[in-house]
Amino acid sequence: MLVCPGCRTRTEAGLELRTLEPDGDERLACACGKTYDIVRGVPIVTPHPPSLETLDADRHHLAIYLDAHWGDRAEPPPDGPAPTLAVAPFLERIAALPPVADAVELGCSTGRVLAALARRADHAVGVELNAAALAYAHTLLAGGDVPFERKRLGAHFTPAIAHGERTPNVSLVCGDALDPPLVPHAFDRVVALNLIDSVPAPRTLLSVLDGLCAPGGELVLASPYAWSADITPDPAPLDGPDPAAQLRAVLTAGDGLDGRYDLLDDTDLRWTLRRDARSAVTYEVHYVRARKRGGT
Ligand SMILES: C[S@@+](CC[C@H](N)C(=O)[O-])C[C@H]1O[C@@H](n2cnc3c(N)ncnc32)[C@H](O)[C@@H]1O
Repeated sequence: MLVCPGCRTRTEAGLELRTLEPDGDERLACACGKTYDIVRGVPIVTPHPPSLETLDADRHHLAIYLDAHWGDRAEPPPDGPAPTLAVAPFLERIAALPPVADAVELGCSTGRVLAALARRADHAVGVELNAAALAYAHTLLAGGDVPFERKRLGAHFTPAIAHGERTPNVSLVCGDALDPPLVPHAFDRVVALNLIDSVPAPRTLLSVLDGLCAPGGELVLASPYAWSADITPDPAPLDGPDPAAQLRAVLTAGDGLDGRYDLLDDTDLRWTLRRDARSAVTYEVHYVRARKRGGT
């Protein structure tokens, strides 16, 4: 169920939300009068929708994430120093998680981790701001193929094709992870991999992730804390020399959150993205899984 991001009002009774209803096949509407287009099968539920002309503009950047998520299902397989599948360490951990009813992933990119989450959930929702990445995810999670241009070297690209994996129990929405059009406290598993250092306000993101998580539910977070001043001018509360320790402290104390969390997993994982046939970038990513206290 999607809610209108412009229509959240806090009253004495709590938070009032308006749900979005289909208005024909190609858009959703809110009782407030706002409408949201469905583009290439994906609802665009953000107050600042991307221009449809620019949807394919960052195709070459997205090729990195097509390989990172679908490289083991791509032809030809990616060459160069990176492993065939960058997200493999995350997929292994997620495959071992207990099943839940409702999962959500913020910043799901081209959707491979979402497919793994959906296998451990009745239903999984993917939220992503990049509409082109989501359009690819939509095709791949319907079991389709996505042709793309993979960087070889310099200005040279070679054609490749990623084969998807049919995953019927997912929904995708183009929206802002800092203001997702989702019902609060509705998810048993809330996931954000490599997103914390991609947003301007990590404090807001942590509070949103916590707000989506049901009592007794869990957060699954990963980040290399590779701050860049352009994207995250203020990394607080993770702004010290050891952000992993700061994140543990925020979660276990429930600092600025609805409640406290108990750590279930806390480790470093290696994440290597292919850049071209001769280069890759490797991050040591802090991976945490934590359960929110409360619930049954
Ligand atoms: C570093 S990539 C990681 C992608 C994926 N989670 C993974 O680990 O492979 C960060 C992703 O978050 C998305 N993103 C950045 N800011 C966002 C926001 N405010 N709301 C939703 N998605 C966002 C980007 O478009 C990108 O797909």
